[in-house]
Amino acid sequence: MPPAIETRSACKSFGKAGQRIDALADIDLDVAQGEFVSVVGASGCGKSTLLRLIAGLLPPTRGKILVEGHEVRGPDPGIGVVFQTPVLLPWRSVQANVALPLDIQHDDRPEMRARIASLLELAGLAGFAQRKPHELSGGMQQRVALCRALVHDPALLLMDEPFGALDALTREQLNLELQRIWMETRKTVLLITHSITEAVLLADRVVVMTPRPGRIKDVVPVALARPRDFSALRDPAFHAASDRVRALMNAAAFVE
Ligand SMILES: Nc1ncnc2c1ncn2[C@@H]1O[C@H](COP(=O)(O)OP(=O)(O)OP(=O)(O)O)[C@@H](O)[C@H]1O
Ligand SMILES: [Mg+2]
Repeated sequence: MPPAIETRSACKSFGKAGQRIDALADIDLDVAQGEFVSVVGASGCGKSTLLRLIAGLLPPTRGKILVEGHEVRGPDPGIGVVFQTPVLLPWRSVQANVALPLDIQHDDRPEMRARIASLLELAGLAGFAQRKPHELSGGMQQRVALCRALVHDPALLLMDEPFGALDALTREQLNLELQRIWMETRKTVLLITHSITEAVLLADRVVVMTPRPGRIKDVVPVALARPRDFSALRDPAFHAASDRVRALMNAAAFVE
């Protein structure tokens, strides 16, 4: 089986000569099928850009991106994406927003209605199916976006700070919920987060990026048994991995 994600010397620059921003330089990353990988790094180091390249929403300036062994040449309906902001369609109800990927693929299987209902239930939105996005809090909108990314059961889930807008307790619940979904379905997950705790708690490996241009500083494996819950925060292996990630981020902040 090919890796779920392969990036080969992927580079991304924005703007014209003179005002060029080198957002990513020489990103080489393999993510195995079924692996859970977190990405951390300072604001502006290119995390969202990396996710957009893998999702096929931006072409690399140089290098290659492969998903399931095939070069990415545009958006792929088999990839679920949760963006940093929820980007819901304001005129559609919550339920209709979650159904959007199915509508785009003309998937009108009757069982999908039950699937949408169970996803909304899972995300604590059961009573809100007929509401419009503006009637929901920011955190609730983000949970709608998560349901939408999961609705067509993608093999690859790309998440860009999906829990950043949530209160601490909801965030912890959704962390464990995401782990449960991942363990049950064995999806490949790439999770971008600003939380070292979240990154280490959930991931098999944590990728630490450095800014300007964004590069991979190092990759930290997390040797914690599964399933993990918040008692893992007392485990020496948790501290070892978190300390290593923090040290790499600190070192990255002082390279310039
Ligand atoms: N469409 C664009 N046009 C021009 N520059 C861009 C564009 N998108 C991103 N950049 C630049 O690329 C760099 C990386 O941005 P990116 O959004 O990937 O960072 P990030 O790591 O996701 O940051 P954050 O943690 O704040 O979300 C930044 O310097 C940003 O200004
Ligand atoms: Mg970002």
